[in-house]
Amino acid sequence: MELKDIKNKLNSVNWNFDFNINYSPESLFPFDCRKHYSYPATFIPEIPYTLIEILSNKGDIVLDPFGGIGTTFIQSLLLERFPFSCDINPVATNVCEKIYDLLNPSLKHADIKQQLLELCVNYDENYDYRNNISELQKELMGWYEIQTFNKLCYLIHCHNSVENVFVKGILKYVISSILTTLSSQNKGWAYIADNVKPKMDEYKEKDVFDFYKSRVNVLFEDIMIHLKNTSPLYVGFYKKTLKEDRIFNTSVINTPITKVDLIITSPPYPRMIDYVKSQRMSLCFFNEAFNEYVSQEIGARCRRSRKETLNEYEDSMKRINCHLSKILKNNGFLCIILPEYAESDDRKRVIDQMVLSYEQYGLKLVQDFQRYIPSNRRTISIQWASLINEKIYVFRKEKSDEH
Ligand SMILES: C[S@@+](CC[C@H](N)C(=O)[O-])C[C@H]1O[C@@H](n2cnc3c(N)ncnc32)[C@H](O)[C@@H]1O
Repeated sequence: MELKDIKNKLNSVNWNFDFNINYSPESLFPFDCRKHYSYPATFIPEIPYTLIEILSNKGDIVLDPFGGIGTTFIQSLLLERFPFSCDINPVATNVCEKIYDLLNPSLKHADIKQQLLELCVNYDENYDYRNNISELQKELMGWYEIQTFNKLCYLIHCHNSVENVFVKGILKYVISSILTTLSSQNKGWAYIADNVKPKMDEYKEKDVFDFYKSRVNVLFEDIMIHLKNTSPLYVGFYKKTLKEDRIFNTSVINTPITKVDLIITSPPYPRMIDYVKSQRMSLCFFNEAFNEYVSQEIGARCRRSRKETLNEYEDSMKRINCHLSKILKNNGFLCIILPEYAESDDRKRVIDQMVLSYEQYGLKLVQDFQRYIPSNRRTISIQWASLINEKIYVFRKEKSDEH
């Protein structure tokens, strides 16, 4: 397609996606990872879905170097593009990996679902499952009402004893996905990141097994709807995707990914979110010491008061942008979503510089689009409240020079 046609197509999109569509379960709509796992600042699936459709062809390679729970990865897969995703947060890459596993059309979904649902029946309410937990798991006691915590420890015990590796993996993911909701703290990820436990009068028993079963049912129902909507070629395509590693729990710089046709990403915004710490429940329950991951996280909010933070952000993003420009094929597109700060905000200079810097890597701006950040995202923390818009930038690689 000619560049002018691509521009016309991009211009015809409503990038706020705020038209009133009433999705019915049977209609065709992009798979929404957010429905199955709550994670901060994820893409609405329509963004990568639309960009992939306009800017790539079936069989192309699509990368998200800050892949999170895999929104870009899953849209690419279902649109039959070969996906790659990187993220330093092991909880996020695990979510992406498990949804990818479940979207295997050759899997015996009904059997796996049955095995997952049957686990709840052997719970013995007179047994104290808290006796067998690790020191890291004990750190979570203060987050849950006592019976709720005991049932969660039972699920962890099931996870440790399940022999089938595949079921074990999906079980880990499902447990992980209900941990935050089941805690007695409903104030959002920042409280979890800062380890602010619930107050005495906030403890409330929650029905762990109801949550668990409903999560399993909704997940499998959604997977089956989307598999039903794939093209006849998807079965063969999925098999081909299995030939190499596609999801990396590290920075893109440390991966073997060499040539890609399209990059779609939303990097962490400076001093905004603690992606790793926001997953404290899952990391502790599954015995992952997380300080090392926090130290690799770009722009982490927990480092907001250090004066070097903005410079470090700039340096890290420079290294990654330079790397991305090298692995992007000639005429390939890089789509990046960045925040629009007020003039008075010291982060505005950093983002503006970054946008200008792409030119020196041979990436020419094709178009940019402003997007309104919906209020449900803005109320997450005070800093989001001041951020009303973000922009989608579409660049095209026009030079192949080494940088
Ligand atoms: C805005 S979120 C991306 C969310 C993603 N678009 C989705 O829909 O799930 C940014 C992600 O960058 C990750 N991240 C932070 N520092 C990173 C680094 N050095 N390398 C790779 N990923 C990093 C965070 O863990 C977070 O998941």
